[in-house]
Amino acid sequence: MDSIYLDNNATTPTLPAVWEAMRPYLTDVYSNPASAHRAGRRARQALEDARERVAALLGAQPDEVVFTSGGTEANNLAVLGLAGDPPGHVVASPVEHPSVAEPLRRLAEVGFRVDYLPADETGVVRAGALAGLLRPDTRLVTVMLANNETGAVQPVADLLGCRPAVPFHCDAVQAVGRVPVHFGELGVTSLSLSAHKFHGPCGIGALLVRRGAKLRPLLLGGHQQRGRRPGTEPVALAVGLAAALDLAQREGAARRERVLMLRRRLLDALRREAAPVVLNGPEQGGIPHTLNLSFPGCHADALLMSLDLAGVACSTGSACSSGSLLPSPVLKAMGVPDDVLHSAMRFSLSALLTEEEIDEAARRIAAAVRRLRTLCPDSATVPS
Ligand SMILES: Cc1ncc(COP(=O)(O)O)c(C=O)c1O
Repeated sequence: MDSIYLDNNATTPTLPAVWEAMRPYLTDVYSNPASAHRAGRRARQALEDARERVAALLGAQPDEVVFTSGGTEANNLAVLGLAGDPPGHVVASPVEHPSVAEPLRRLAEVGFRVDYLPADETGVVRAGALAGLLRPDTRLVTVMLANNETGAVQPVADLLGCRPAVPFHCDAVQAVGRVPVHFGELGVTSLSLSAHKFHGPCGIGALLVRRGAKLRPLLLGGHQQRGRRPGTEPVALAVGLAAALDLAQREGAARRERVLMLRRRLLDALRREAAPVVLNGPEQGGIPHTLNLSFPGCHADALLMSLDLAGVACSTGSACSSGSLLPSPVLKAMGVPDDVLHSAMRFSLSALLTEEEIDEAARRIAAAVRRLRTLCPDSATVPS
């Protein structure tokens, strides 16, 4: 058995049916959708069909869908575009993805005050704390739906219950296409998604923006998408996003059931064969495809390298922070002790995996963990 891919929170393979749906818009219908000729109109029709499909699948209106280059751009656009000026106050969760956390830092640099909600030891924010943090000059609340490192699902509906008329952004990049998400019912002001997280093409995502919300564009220089995100729209990618979302919703229940079973199988095997193992995040109730485990006594970077050599592709945290030796801010916000923090690995699954692959991955991971622990035999205890 070759390499086993357990890094589906970083990206997923594009499904053949999605690629087939996209292909005509790369070969035959390749016109700029803004062009006034017949070929341009065909491209525009495909683009607007994709927009309508995405809107219908997520409980939004077509004019609430702004296509972006992915989740990072959608989050930047929401945070920087909704906060407005002059500088005021923002409330955020302490476990946001860097594509939200960094724009928040940018806001702080220009004079905004950013307050963070407290999170519990599973990485879930305490919704009741929001009311106490809101101020008359609060411009934005931003809390993700599902965490990319731990899979923890945030109580967005409860948070919205105690929110006055303040824009609320929700990074749903790890949730859309994996668990049911309905923009209208959720009631947030804006919501971000990214196609390559649910077997669509990389390079396209969307920000859903409620009608009437004041959104300042980040890019200037074009009339496309009503000026909210100028630039020639990638028609084939938009078609791919819509096709992948459609498939994800139609197969959603079966995919979730399968991924939950595979997650349980991997967790049980590693608890048996690589003890002690610490689960970072919720045992149940998180997004099913994410499993964040620490192996006290191993250093995550050494384990990542060993697993790469052994043919298991996984991650030490979010892909954006891999390559840096900094411990995960998400696990830090959860109050995870040092040895657990430095030995945390993220295994992220998809319904394409087989039971045999999961069993083989567990064997390879356990062997690597045991070998690394022999190099530092006293440290493999679970900190109290
Ligand atoms: C929660 C979350 N938000 C945003 C992003 C960024 O999405 P993209 O890779 O499409 O820029 C990611 C990617 O890992 C993510 O996990």
